Amino acid sequence: MPASAGNLDRMRRDLASAARALKDADSVRIVTHIDADGISAGAIADMTAERLGIERTVCFEKKITEEVVKEVNGRREDLVWICDLGSGYLSEFDRDSLIITDHHVPDPRWMKSQTVLDSFSGMHHLNPHTYGMDGTTEVCGAGMTYLLSKECDPSNSDMAYLAVVGAVGDFQDSAASALVGLNRTILQDAVANGDVVVEEDLRFFGRETRPLNQYLQFSSDPRIPGLSENAQGCLEFLDSLGIRGKSNGRWRVWNDLSRDEKDRAIERILDMADPSDRQRAHGEMYLLPNMPRGTGLRDAKEFATILNSSGRYDDADTGLRICRGDMTALQDADRNRAEHRRHISSAMSYIKDNHLLRQRRFIQWFDAGSEVKETVVGIVAGMVLSSGECVRNIPIIAFADSDDGVKVSARADRSLVDKGLDLSSVMKTAAELVGGYGGGHTVAAGATIPPDKKEEFLDIVEDIVSSQVD
Ligand code: C5P
Ligand code: ZN
Repeated sequence: MPASAGNLDRMRRDLASAARALKDADSVRIVTHIDADGISAGAIADMTAERLGIERTVCFEKKITEEVVKEVNGRREDLVWICDLGSGYLSEFDRDSLIITDHHVPDPRWMKSQTVLDSFSGMHHLNPHTYGMDGTTEVCGAGMTYLLSKECDPSNSDMAYLAVVGAVGDFQDSAASALVGLNRTILQDAVANGDVVVEEDLRFFGRETRPLNQYLQFSSDPRIPGLSENAQGCLEFLDSLGIRGKSNGRWRVWNDLSRDEKDRAIERILDMADPSDRQRAHGEMYLLPNMPRGTGLRDAKEFATILNSSGRYDDADTGLRICRGDMTALQDADRNRAEHRRHISSAMSYIKDNHLLRQRRFIQWFDAGSEVKETVVGIVAGMVLSSGECVRNIPIIAFADSDDGVKVSARADRSLVDKGLDLSSVMKTAAELVGGYGGGHTVAAGATIPPDKKEEFLDIVEDIVSSQVD
């Protein structure tokens, strides 16, 4: 959905007006999301305010709750700047000086009540949806935050690579196997200043840090028959191509391979892949050449996972320090990443071994109870959906216990969105009908509901999904 010239003009005007508000402030409270996009966005906002000489504090939130709304409305700082959150709950905010740089589906109640007077108020809402763009592929929370940062000072384009990490962290490159729309413009900034190199490569996870055998064996999105979960198959594959797996007794990583070795391996892997999976298996990958080798920070996808594994384990500050260039935070990040890996792998086995996945006609679902953290259940739901265990042509809904009820995560294949599915409205409507709240994106959304309402909630979700995709 290319943005029209009129929409882009409106966005430029809104960015300029938000930049003026920011420059006029002496103090700002930055509120941001705990995922990779949110941490990148928070870091960009933090450094932007720092460079403007504004007194600032950063706080991370898992989601917008009533308490967060109250806190935002009551803060005494000149300005509150919410990144990668907030749009879904716009009508709840009543403070006068607020900037939101987000890409979640905006609160429909706010859209309806918006009047021409709003453009004179102190509310600066910067969201791709309001400019006719797609918030799941064209620009993310970190991207919108970056655009405002660059509007404040063009030299802030040295932070473009963080917006690339945020976009990849939110899977904005998945549909086209490349960044598109405004993300592409931001990518060009990062390339122009030498922070990112665009490479055509396999799109499996772990190019920089996974031992070569595991890199191939754990390829799951898409699965490659003969390699995925086939340790022996991977060794034989490398052997048959004459590619050494180890060097000086240590496993090589994919990015250690020469161009010629990679080309030979890619050609064979694409032959082995199901033809419908080839586009997903191969495409653009983003290398961060100025980052230290062996840390995972040299690949945008792995960088995003490092941020995710900090934020989702109550340690978003470590992610923030990394984005600010503090390499001493990497030790903490390694610990978080090991914990993340363990948690995800035990969550996947728990769901599989206990046959928790249930199918209904229009949805499939599982209840992870207290076995999976509420901050991770969405990632797990996405992995179950793309694993062989599951059908892809209906959405997946996952439950996990949380302090304030039951956390719900919903994920769907993008092809369903083309048929009319919008999980954001499904989660918002169904959650509100059972006394909860929710929102998100068309392909990935979430909610929190009362613990005794799961069945009723699933019935409503199924009803809405069936009416959307009919
Ligand atoms: O938590 P989960 O990863 O499932 O969230 C998917 C998307 O939905 C995220 O972008 C999240 O910010 C959004 N969400 C929301 N409101 C909620 C829960 C999740 O907007 N109550
Ligand atoms: Zn985001």
